[in-house]
This record gives sequence, structure tokens and C-alpha cells, in this order.
Amino acid sequence: MDFTASAAQLLNIKADSLILPTGPQLKDSAKALDTSLDGAISSLIKAGDFSGKSGATLVMHIPGASGKRVILLGTEGADTPQQQIKAIEAGAAALLKTPSAKAVWVGEGLADDSEWQASIVARSIQTASYQYAAAPKGSAKTKPKKLKTLTYWAPTRADLSAAKKGLAYGSAVGQGMNVARQLGNLPANICTPDYLATQAKALAKGQAKFTTSVLTEADMKKLKMGSLLSVSAGSDVPAKMIVMKYQGTKASVKPIVLVGKAVTFDSGGISLKPGNGMDEMKYDMCGGASVIGVFNALIENQLPINVVGIVPATENMPNGHATKPGDVVTSMSGQTIEVLNTDAEGRLILCDALTYAGRFKPDTVIDIATLTGAVIGALGKVTAGLLSNDDELAEQLLSSGTRSGDRAWRLPLFEEYDELIKSNFADMANIGGPQAGTITAACFLARFAKKYKWAHLDVAGTAWVSGAAKGSTGRPVPILMEYLRSKAG
Ligand code: BES
Ligand code: MN
Ligand code: ZN
Repeated sequence: MDFTASAAQLLNIKADSLILPTGPQLKDSAKALDTSLDGAISSLIKAGDFSGKSGATLVMHIPGASGKRVILLGTEGADTPQQQIKAIEAGAAALLKTPSAKAVWVGEGLADDSEWQASIVARSIQTASYQYAAAPKGSAKTKPKKLKTLTYWAPTRADLSAAKKGLAYGSAVGQGMNVARQLGNLPANICTPDYLATQAKALAKGQAKFTTSVLTEADMKKLKMGSLLSVSAGSDVPAKMIVMKYQGTKASVKPIVLVGKAVTFDSGGISLKPGNGMDEMKYDMCGGASVIGVFNALIENQLPINVVGIVPATENMPNGHATKPGDVVTSMSGQTIEVLNTDAEGRLILCDALTYAGRFKPDTVIDIATLTGAVIGALGKVTAGLLSNDDELAEQLLSSGTRSGDRAWRLPLFEEYDELIKSNFADMANIGGPQAGTITAACFLARFAKKYKWAHLDVAGTAWVSGAAKGSTGRPVPILMEYLRSKAG
């Protein structure tokens, strides 16, 4: 997909679709377009065919005009970034349903910030183009999408360079989301720890700034990652720890470390989950997939920062070697853990990855995990849970969430919650009882993240959707990229 920006005469740009954001009252470029179309737009509004309400779309066919169709995109009531993003996504979806190869997006009538708006347009076009790569033959989904070029039309020449920057950034974010979605949607018999490691290695191939290395179980044993290994013990496929490094600036600049949970299938282990909906536990690697997606976006967009990605990848299965409730294991940090529930496995793999992260002398560590069902109870499928030992970092992530439309909300890490994971037989238990499950999980992680600024995103509710539209969302790639972009200055 090619993205370009132009401030040329709107009707002189050759395209077969023109996306026109407008409310019921036409302004500026919309008015000019209406005039050149003999009032076709205003008469559709008058007739009630197009309401102009945020996200409403109407495809108008224009015989003989330079655009073969004009897609009206409603903007009325799209005041917040979230509403504007939703509207742009509706426009992108409408465009991708048409057989256009070349489209012009009118960058007027919605948001004022050209860079931001162009980034959301490019991102939305990329994500609307995603198709599950192994879709059944002959299904509607296998029809190739035709769109090849999108020209973002900026109202003034002064907006052009900002728009171009936004397009490049947004396109990278959208592609990163699609990479994460594809990995998430793949079934667990294909997307194994080894598969993820192979993908991460392939990504680094030929990239000067990017390397991938993979720790095997033997390496983990040497590093005394007893907690991670206690999860992989019950599975017949070996665990891998994927370590990716992106060096976009001087080596002396401390890296931001992203740690992503990648349980490629979470059966619960001996604390087996109920059968209903268990297939969705193939998505329990979405934290790791989002880190791989971010690295894909970094390669595309070449941000001048240093980032390390650590993806502990394993299955959680109940074979004869599996960890049993009550077993006590020793983590890489030396702290001991009583495994009261083998289904609370995410924290068991993350704690060793967090200890390992310390080796990179990080500026900041952010872990991403589909960690608790409880976060869905608290925030639904809308918002990620955010917990942090640093107020400034938490604020930066919250605003990155708002700007990218990939929002998070902070929960507290008060001492009283930490007391809930006390154990009589080890330094801590791996569960804290029925209350505040998202917080006690984060309190557990916080015990391994004391040496640096740390934040935790619980994306159990936001990483995928269930039901008829079941599929991975590509979240939280947007909030992570927005945060990294803000760090790049
Ligand atoms: N991967 C799950 C969390 C999860 C559950 C994500 C449902 C999305 C939907 C995690 O490993 C888990 O099983 N957590 C347990 C923790 C409990 C045993 C303390 C949970 O949330 O039930
Ligand atoms: Mn589990
Ligand atoms: Zn899990």
C-alpha cells in the first residue's frame, strides 16, 4: 500500500474514490466539491440519505467525474479523539468494501492536527485491509483487496510535511497491528513458541538495527528461571524466550524494555479451565504478539530510540510432568513461589522475564499480558488495565492511550493488596484469592520490578473480540507505539 500526501486541486487528483468527511452543513472543500457535482451532495443530505452523523457513510457514484465515487463520511458529533478515530475507521471500512485501487482522503472537516489525522487514516486503512492469512479457500475473505494508493489531501501546503510524517507513522502502526493480529489468530497447533521465535528471527533478517536471539530451556535452566520452567514443565513443546533488540540511536541511550506474555495455549494446566470457550486461550500469547508487532512497526518507521523486546513463550498444559497446586518453585530472582493455582501461569513466566530485563539496564520496563479475567470484570473489553510503580510513566501511558485511541485506565498497587499474596510456605503465593484479581496479579509482578520504572498493561479484555467477529484486535500496539514515539522526541 502506498500513502502519499498532496495539496493539489482536489478534483485534479486522479482516483476512483474520494472520501469526504463532512457534517450535514458543508464547509470549504465539501462545498466546492458539491458545486462541481451540481449540488449532488447537498441534495442527498436534504433528501435524508446522508445524516452527516459521526461514522455514517454513503457511497455516491459519480458518472463522468474525476472520482468514480465519493464516499461521504459523517463527522457531526466526532469531537473527541476516540470519536474521530471511530469515524475514520468507518470511512476506511467503507472504502475497502469498494473496488477502488486509488483513493483520495480529504483531510478536512474532522480533526485539525494533520499529522495525527493522517496517521489514523493510514493506520485504519492498513487494519481494514487485514485478512486472516489462512482463510478457507473460496470464502469471501480470500478476495484480494484492490486498494493500492491512498492520497491524503491536505488543505494547505503547510500541512503537507506533517501529513506525510503521519502517514508513514500510522501505516507502520497499522502493519504492526496486523502482524500481531495474524499471530493471535493462528491456532495454537501452528503458533507454538518455536513458531513465534522463527517469526521474530525472520523479522530481523537483513535489518541493520535489529537482532533477535532465542533462549532455549537449557539456557533458562542455566539462568535459574525456575518459575518460567515450572509452567513449560507440563507441555511437550519446549519453551522459548525470544529477545529482540532494536537500536535506533546511540548505544549509550538506555533502552525501553517491552516484555510480552506469550502463552501459546493456556489450558490452565492441572488447575484445568472449563471447556467452554477454551479455544480462545490460543489468544493468551497476544502480549508477546504485540511486542513482535511493535518491532515490525519500529523497522517500518525507524524511530530514533533503543528498544528491547522480551517474549517468554510457552504452552500451559497438564501432562505428567506438570506443576501441581502446592508446588514451590524458585524464580530467577531467588524469591520462592507457592503455585496455588497453575492457571495463574502468566505471572510465573513474566517474573523471570522481568528479572532478565534488568540485564539490559533499562530506562523503563513495560510488560504486556492477557493476565487476568478479572480485568474484564473491571473494565470490560474497552479499556486495558494499567498498573505502575511510577506516576510519571503511568501518566505518559494514559495520554498515549488517549491519543492513539487504545486506552488504558490505572488501578492502584496499595500495600494492602500485596498482603493478599502472602504464603506460609514460600516468599509469595501465585494467587491472591477472589478479590481484586488484576491488582494482586500486578502486585506479584511488582515484586520482580523493583529496580526500574515499570508499568504493566493487562490486555485480557482488549487483545481480541469474541463472538461472530472473533479475532485479534492488534491492541495494544497503538498505545505502545504512541508511547515510544513520544520518547523519540
Ligand atoms: N490467560 C488467563 C487470563 C484470561 C482469562 C484472559 C480469560 C482472558 C480471558 C490467565 O492465565 C488466567 O487463567 N488467569 C486466572 C487467574 C486466577 C487463577 C487467579 C483468571 O483470571 O481466572
Ligand atoms: Mn491461566
Ligand atoms: Zn494465561
